[in-house]
Amino acid sequence: MTAATSDRLGRPLRDLRISVTDRCNFRCLYCMPKEIFGRDYRFLRREQLLSFEEIERLARLFVEHGVEKIRLTGGEPLLRRGVEALVGRLALIPGLDLTLTTNGSLLSAKAKALRDAGLTRITVSLDSLDDEVFRAMNDVDFPVERVLAGIEAAAAAGLAPVKVNMVVRRGLNDESIVPMARFFRESGHILRFIEYMDVGSSNGWRLDDVVPADEVVALIDAELPLEAVEPNYPGEVATRWRYRDGGGEIGVIASVTRPFCGGCTRARLSAEGSLFTCLFAARGHDLRGPLREGASDEEISAAIGGVWGRRADRYSEIRSAATASRPKVEMSYIGG
Ligand SMILES: C[S@@+](CC[C@H](N)C(=O)[O-])C[C@H]1O[C@@H](n2cnc3c(N)ncnc32)[C@H](O)[C@@H]1O
Ligand code: SF4
Repeated sequence: MTAATSDRLGRPLRDLRISVTDRCNFRCLYCMPKEIFGRDYRFLRREQLLSFEEIERLARLFVEHGVEKIRLTGGEPLLRRGVEALVGRLALIPGLDLTLTTNGSLLSAKAKALRDAGLTRITVSLDSLDDEVFRAMNDVDFPVERVLAGIEAAAAAGLAPVKVNMVVRRGLNDESIVPMARFFRESGHILRFIEYMDVGSSNGWRLDDVVPADEVVALIDAELPLEAVEPNYPGEVATRWRYRDGGGEIGVIASVTRPFCGGCTRARLSAEGSLFTCLFAARGHDLRGPLREGASDEEISAAIGGVWGRRADRYSEIRSAATASRPKVEMSYIGG
């Protein structure tokens, strides 16, 4: 294990999320509402995006600071042309756990190429099995069955166990909780429920819309009895539960009702090379500028270490109705 760079609260730098595009083919109501992300929305231009060479160079420098896990995300990462070539480059970095989060829409076509390039794990977002609810939530009328086909393609390609993430928003898909649990039980895939968060400034978040993780567990437990499982490692973000009859396990991510800032070891790199030390930050620190102005590895590495060393973010622990309206970076830009 590398000696990790630590922040002002003593938290090491261990995980990096890299957004490879801010574009998406979905318009999930809680992430990219159409009123904001409509025809006139100005997405990043191609030359603003980090190239694969630039991403790889930064990734290697982050690994020197202690990063052990990289997750590719977006927007929708599978929309970035040639993303499997980037996977291939990152998969060659020794000792790195590499994964990717996708909405699954293009996964049937891409799963094998991703696996062949060296990806070993994948997370697919799916908010309901009810086709009507799902089509309404992605707001582009995308059918459930194609995401399910993507999940199966990923498992068949060897990206198993597939993690399936469901964001729960009260009044929209809370009735899908138990059917999702039932469906993914014994499937070999791991279903995780995520509390709806006040990310970005455009989703009109209200605390009333959050279904607390405890409520999710109670709803499932009433029909399919559960018991708690020890975390895989200290500071694991998801709390684990398993079916008492041996039907597999689920996870719940209680980012709102049980914030985990104290154990947060995650940095985020936007598609244009801006480094964020919190999902709820308003501004990032530009790394693309120095990269393109010819900075040396030592200089860029010092910039990364400096940003992390000054970090004191703990937004979720101080969240309130007032902080929810602060300006924050959009989830589709920073990648969740
Ligand atoms: C921003 S997406 C990017 C990757 C890909 N497009 C996807 O949907 O999986 C990453 C994750 O963030 C989650 N997400 C987006 N907005 C959210 C919110 N307001 N609260 C909680 N999770 C959210 C999505 O459901 C998804 O699982
Ligand atoms: S959650 Fe993912 S799929 Fe949905 S709009 Fe955001 S980036 Fe796109």
